[in-house]
Parts: sequence; structure tokens; C-alpha cells
Amino acid sequence: MPLPKLTIRGREIATSIVQGGMGVGVSWLDLVVAVIMEGGLGTLSSAAIDRLVYFETGKKMPTREATCWAVKEVKRRTGGGYVGINIMQALVRDYVDSVLGAVDGGVDFIMASAGLHLRLPEIVGNKDVALIPIVSSDRALKIICGRWKSRHNRLPDAVILEGPQSAGGHLGVKIGEIDLEENKLENLFPPIKQYANFLGILVIVAGGLFYHTDILRWHALGADGAQFGTRLLATKESGASPLFKQELVKCGAEGIIVAYPTQNYPGSSSGLPFRVIKSSPAFTHNQWRKNICDKGYIKPKDRDCPAKSDPERHFCICNSLLAAIGYGDGLPLFTTGTNGALIKEISTVARVMKELRGEI
Ligand SMILES: Cc1cc2nc3c(=O)[nH]c(=O)nc-3n(C[C@H](O)[C@H](O)[C@H](O)COP(=O)(O)O)c2cc1C
Repeated sequence: MPLPKLTIRGREIATSIVQGGMGVGVSWLDLVVAVIMEGGLGTLSSAAIDRLVYFETGKKMPTREATCWAVKEVKRRTGGGYVGINIMQALVRDYVDSVLGAVDGGVDFIMASAGLHLRLPEIVGNKDVALIPIVSSDRALKIICGRWKSRHNRLPDAVILEGPQSAGGHLGVKIGEIDLEENKLENLFPPIKQYANFLGILVIVAGGLFYHTDILRWHALGADGAQFGTRLLATKESGASPLFKQELVKCGAEGIIVAYPTQNYPGSSSGLPFRVIKSSPAFTHNQWRKNICDKGYIKPKDRDCPAKSDPERHFCICNSLLAAIGYGDGLPLFTTGTNGALIKEISTVARVMKELRGEI
């Protein structure tokens, strides 16, 4: 069955398929451009974008300029296609500059994750950009809407509800609550949908979707769009390193775990639970303590990054995620959603999008 279009703030996307932002550098230019050309919503990730642009161009640019360059580059390669960018508030050092640079570049959608982004409308100002918070509860959405409306007379254009089956540090719930019935995407969805409907906000679902039939099922339940991360991870166009893609293809369900710094093994220096492939060198290697942070993307001004102050229990995500796309000499960390176990081969964006559209 053909998928419906998705129109957000007047921008029409040909299919309701959204490619989730994947940092560091996984949803980079080739992947985003390919998704847009296939009629989906393509999303850059702002994480470490100054370095990514340097690797791409050989030019050192500050974050604001680098972000602007990346957005414009996607627009150039897609002939003016609509482009999104995922910006994590937890990347405290570059947060404001990432938003400003994206706006300078003419970004169409800002997907705001890893924090409540209460100041986002103020930073964006009166620019015509769709603001799309990523939340894992109706409570978070209510806080955002309350603050945005009262302080900035603005509401989100859409919301992405991300359940705990997704990847990275955005499982959205505490470590012991990931598998609770109440945290299943199906159970998180109805109150969000009801509240969003009331305010005229579109709802996109994410986390654990894999097949065309998943998209149809979610549309039948009332979702306006479906976001995919893991499904696009092992494509030729993704920025993941060859080793990352190979490990994903062979990991199987038993090869994926949730790492958290309070357990007997290291966890992310962001403090958030991270779903990872167990064989990731940052996780297993007995020298992981050497992977000490010298980048500081998540470092609060007044504190040392935990990868530095408590290296026994924290791996450095700046260096580990850069290594996962083949840069630097850090130990790579491979993050995936639960559906990583379903990936059996390295594919192409064209093929995955065809499958998701239900054409093959
Ligand atoms: C390798 C990888 C990196 C990701 N990085 C980010 C990120 O930097 N910021 C974010 O908000 N979400 C991130 N995500 C989540 C995706 O955007 C998406 O919402 C999620 O993967 C959807 O669940 P799925 O993997 O089951 O399809 C990442 C996902 C993957 C697989």
C-alpha cells in the first residue's frame, strides 16, 4: 500500500519515512542526500560537525560556520531538497552555535533531542524553521509546549516520540525501566497523540520499526510519520565505518546490550544508557581506559567530562563515536537499536527505501 505524504510547516515530503539523525557522522552527507533523493526526510546530525566538515573540506571552521556549510551542501546536492538536522542539547559546548549555523544554512527542520530545548524558539527567532522535539513521554511534550507557548508564543510543528528500543543514549527511560510494559512505544503513544492532536502537532514515531508493515500499522494507529535509524545504518551511504557495518551484520540479538556506567562495565560519559554492540572495542577492549576525552563536546563548563574524572566507569563518547566512523585512534563504540539483530547484509539506501515504501 502506498505511504502517505508528510507535510510539516508547509514542506511536503513525498513519503512519511523519516531518517533519524545519527551522530557522530553516521547520518552524514551521502546518507542524508540519498534519503532525500528517495523521497524521505533526511536528517543530518550536528554532533562533532566541525570535525566532519574539516574531514570533508580540509578547512577548519567554527561550529556555526561548519553547520551552515553542511546544510547548504545537502541543499546543493539535492537541488534544494528539504533538510533536517538533529541537534542534541546534551552537546552543551556547541549547542547554540549548531542551532544558529543550521538556521544560517536555511535548514527546514530542527529535530531537538537529548534535552528539553526550552530556549530553542528564542535561539531560532522568527526564522521559518520547523521545530520538532524528540521526546519519550507526554510529560516532556507538555513541559515543552507549556514553556514555548508562554514564553515564545510558539508550539512544536511536529513531535518525534522515541521509544526505548532505539539506539544511542536516547532510550529515554532509566536503566531498569527499558523493558517495562508501560514504556512500550504502543503504550507511550496514545497520550502523546491525544495531546498533540489537541494542539495540532504532528506525531512521528521512532524506535524498533523495521518493515513497511510497521509504517502501515503506525499510520492506522494515528501516527503521521515513521522514523528509522538502525534500518539505514548498514547501507553503503551511511557514515559508519566498514568494521561498524560488519559487526552490525553479525551481532545477532545476543550481541546487543545496554551499557550503563553503574554496571560492572563502562558506560557512556553522557551518563545515559547506551544500546551498543557488545563487540565494540570501546566496550570490550582491556585498554578502553586510554580512551580519554580530549574533545569536550558534552563537557559542562564547570565540570570535567566523566571520561576524564571517572575513567574506570566511563568510555569517552567523543573519541569512540568518531572512531566508529573511521576517524582518530580512539576505540570505536558501535551503537544500534534492538533491530540491529535483523540486519543481515550491507544494503543501499535505494533498496531500503524501496522496501520501506512497500515496493519490494
Ligand atoms: C548509530 C545511531 C546513532 C544515533 N545517533 C543519534 C543522535 O545523535 N541523536 C539522536 O537524537 N538520535 C540518534 N539516534 C536515534 C535515531 O535517530 C532514531 O530515532 C532511532 O535509531 C530509531 O530507532 P531504530 O534504530 O529502531 O530505527 C541514533 C541511532 C543510531 C542507530
